[in-house]
Amino acid sequence: MLPQEIIRRKRDGHALNTAEIAQFVQGLTDGGWSEGQVAALAMAVFLRGMGRDECVALTHAMVHSGRVMAWPDLPGPVLDKHSSGGVGDKVSLMLAPMVAACGGYVPMISGRGLGHTGGTLDKLAAIPVYNATPNTAHLDRVVREVGCAIIGQTADLAPADGRLYAIRDVTATVESVPLITASILSKKLAAGLHALVMDVKCGNGAFADSRAMADELAHSIVAVANGAGLKATALITDMNQVLGHTVGNALEMREAMDYLTGNGAREPRLHAVTLALGAEMLVLGGLAANTQAAHSQLQTALDSGAAADRFARMVAALGGPADLLERPDVYLTAAPVVMPVPAPRTGILTSLQTRDIGIAVVELGGGRRQAGDAIDLRVGLSAVHALGTPVTKGEPLAFIHAADQASAQRAVAQVQAAVHIADAGTPWQAEPCVMATVAGSTLGVAA
Ligand code: URA
Repeated sequence: MLPQEIIRRKRDGHALNTAEIAQFVQGLTDGGWSEGQVAALAMAVFLRGMGRDECVALTHAMVHSGRVMAWPDLPGPVLDKHSSGGVGDKVSLMLAPMVAACGGYVPMISGRGLGHTGGTLDKLAAIPVYNATPNTAHLDRVVREVGCAIIGQTADLAPADGRLYAIRDVTATVESVPLITASILSKKLAAGLHALVMDVKCGNGAFADSRAMADELAHSIVAVANGAGLKATALITDMNQVLGHTVGNALEMREAMDYLTGNGAREPRLHAVTLALGAEMLVLGGLAANTQAAHSQLQTALDSGAAADRFARMVAALGGPADLLERPDVYLTAAPVVMPVPAPRTGILTSLQTRDIGIAVVELGGGRRQAGDAIDLRVGLSAVHALGTPVTKGEPLAFIHAADQASAQRAVAQVQAAVHIADAGTPWQAEPCVMATVAGSTLGVAA
C-alpha cells in the first residue's frame, strides 16, 4: 500500500492492521518513507490515537527493526529503568551504576533530548570522547565487566525508533501515549532486559501533564511490556518542578557525579525518586526481598563508594577519561556567561511553569529546534530553588549558564516569568515525589 494511503486511513480514524504498521516501520528503517510522510503519520496517530493491538504491533515491529540482544549467561538479572522525560531528570546517570553495584546488569539504551525535556544521551555527550555507540562486542564486554553501560541507540538497536524519535522531537508529536509506549519499549525489548521500571513523569514539566494521562501511559507501558514477556512496574513521579537543582547537559552531569561521590548535599527529591526507582529494580530483579531492604542496599552502594566506582569504570571502559570523577572541572566545559535570576518579589516559591524552564534551556542552545541541530552542552540553569523555598526580592532563584549576554538575559526573563512567588506565610504543600505505583502482572512473564 502507498504510504499516503496508510496515513490517510489513520488520519480518518481507522485502526491500522499489523501489515500496515509493519510497512510503516520498514519505511522508517530503510528510508522508504520520507520525513514528511513519517511526520504526517505521527501527527495522525497523535490526533487519532491507537488501540492496544496497534500499539503492540508498532512496538513489536520497532523492536525487530534491528538486532535484539540476549544475555543468557550473566550471573545476575538484566534490569533497566526508563523515564518518560522531564526537566532536570538525571536519575539514569546515577541509577545504572547504583544498581550495578547491587548485583544487577544494566545495558541502558538512552535517548536524546525530546521536546522541552532533556535526554540522558545528550548529558553523556558532555563527557569528552565517551563512546555512546559502542559495537555489540564492546557493549557486551562493558556490561559483563562493569555491570552497566549507558549508551545511545546504536544503528542496529531499534533503529526505527531512532528516526521516529528525531522526527517527533521537532514536529510536536511527542505527547502521544502509543508513540511514547512503542518508543520506550522498542529500545528496552531490543536490549534483552529481564525487568523494567518505568518512571512516568507527571506534571507541568512532563509529557503527561495530567494525572489521567500519566495513569494511561503507566498502564499502557506495563501492559504492553508484560504482553511482550517483560516484567515491568511503573512509578508515577512528580514533575511539577525541576528534579534536582540543575538543568542542562554538562550541569546535570556534574550534579549526577556529585550525587555519586557525595560531594555536596543530594537534593532530597532527586534522592527520593532515585531510591524509589532503584528499589523497584532490585525487587523486580530478585536482588532484594522488599523495597526497604533495597533502599538500604542502594544507600550502602552510595556510601561505600561502590556506585561511584562503577560509574568511573563505565566511563573509562567506554573511552572517557579515567579521572573524570576526580577532575570534573577539567573535562566538563563551563559556559562563558553565568548570570543570576533575581527573585522579582519577596515571598514563597509556590509553583513553576516547568515546561517553560525546559524551553528556556532549549532556546539557550541546550536542546534542538531541528532534528540534526548541534547543541551547546555548557548551557542551562544551576542552583534552582525547590518549591516551598522562602525567597527575598533580588535573591538569585537560579543561575543561567549561557553562551553570551543576550541569550542569558532572555533566559533570566523567561525564568522570572515561569515562577510564581506567593505572599510569605501562604500555606503550601509539596506534591509527593512518588505519586503512585502501577505494578505489572506476572502472568505470561518469564521468571
Ligand atoms: N522517552 C522515549 O524514549 N521515547 C519517548 O517517546 C518519550 C520518552
